[in-house]
Amino acid sequence: MAKSLNARIHSMVWMAVISAVVGLSGCQQNGGDADEILIGHFGSLTGSEATFGKSTDNGIILAVEEINATGGIRGKKVRLITYDDKGEAREAGTAVTRLITKDQVVAVLGEVASGLSLAGAPVCQENGIPMISPSSTNPKVTQVGDMIFRVCFIDPFQGSVCAKFAREHEGLKAAKAAILTDQASPYSVGLQEEFEKAFVALGGTVVSKQTYQGGDQDFSAQLTAIRGEAPDILFVPGYYTDVGNIALQAEKLQLKVPMLGGDGWDSSKLGEIAGKAIDGCFYSNHYSHEDPNPRVQEFIRKYNEKHSQTPDGLAALGYDAARILFEAMKRTESLKGADLAAELSKTKDFDGVTGKISINEERNAVKPAVILQMKDGKPSYVSTIQP
Ligand code: PHE
Repeated sequence: MAKSLNARIHSMVWMAVISAVVGLSGCQQNGGDADEILIGHFGSLTGSEATFGKSTDNGIILAVEEINATGGIRGKKVRLITYDDKGEAREAGTAVTRLITKDQVVAVLGEVASGLSLAGAPVCQENGIPMISPSSTNPKVTQVGDMIFRVCFIDPFQGSVCAKFAREHEGLKAAKAAILTDQASPYSVGLQEEFEKAFVALGGTVVSKQTYQGGDQDFSAQLTAIRGEAPDILFVPGYYTDVGNIALQAEKLQLKVPMLGGDGWDSSKLGEIAGKAIDGCFYSNHYSHEDPNPRVQEFIRKYNEKHSQTPDGLAALGYDAARILFEAMKRTESLKGADLAAELSKTKDFDGVTGKISINEERNAVKPAVILQMKDGKPSYVSTIQP
């Protein structure tokens, strides 16, 4: 008895000490120093989708530098705090909780992967802190609530873009499609459904539907089954590491069918992993570095100067998301969550690197998509499809 009472007092003392320390640091960091505005980013800086988080962060960093070079927002500098969620849902939730409760950021940018945005969004919604996903395309993300925004198109559009391209593109004119879906990824499952719906509506037939789990190493059973159905196209709505491995194994199994995918392919790593095996294949995306628009070329030049690489779509979307946030911050009465969210929802005809961005009533952006084709390990522009 005495012992357990002792232990209880001991732990109560510790709890008091901890909350005092947390309270103090919380106070000190509340929204940053008096002369700075804190914003958060959660992303996959490590793991099999590491380029998603790194590119996004690089794009955001460029936007932060630019806004601070022009004097910040109403005399305050913007400071970015980024946490690595390692591509895991649990870590994503923890990262967002930490950004909001410990760092006390006024807004959150992220995630790329829809499944991870779906893990972070409820935390932002519950705390009344606006979140902008630069690139999550699953419709459910912004349905979490009125604090959740995105600056990209959604998968019902992307799925129909891919289906239309498969059916109509000269040299494809696909009648029979096979689909290989990552069943553990909300993005992959959702995009697969939208593609199938649209492909069938356009008169095509889906001859084989196979699944895998992100991170799988052996796809031979699925690819052999697909080969047996002799499809004209193989739709793979997955992320780049898996897609690269699938392309390599398809080549080994002599499955000679063009592959088609969504924005999840967008990484310089795709060509590095798959080499020649992915050449000639197509994917839909938010941006092409070959876009001659001066706005795009100026961004590429500045990004290259800062980060010594050509920006991918994630970098462009991260940059656009941050700039839309800063514009809303300049206009809003206060940086309180509700005020900032109200201002974000007024975003109209913002001249982004990834196109003109208006936020609609569902807090989504309606924008064109591009189709890219892999050539010598790099994406090259094929066409633009308007919403
Ligand atoms: N749209 C993907 C998702 O929702 C993420 C993604 C966007 C990946 C753009 C690459 C490029 O999961």
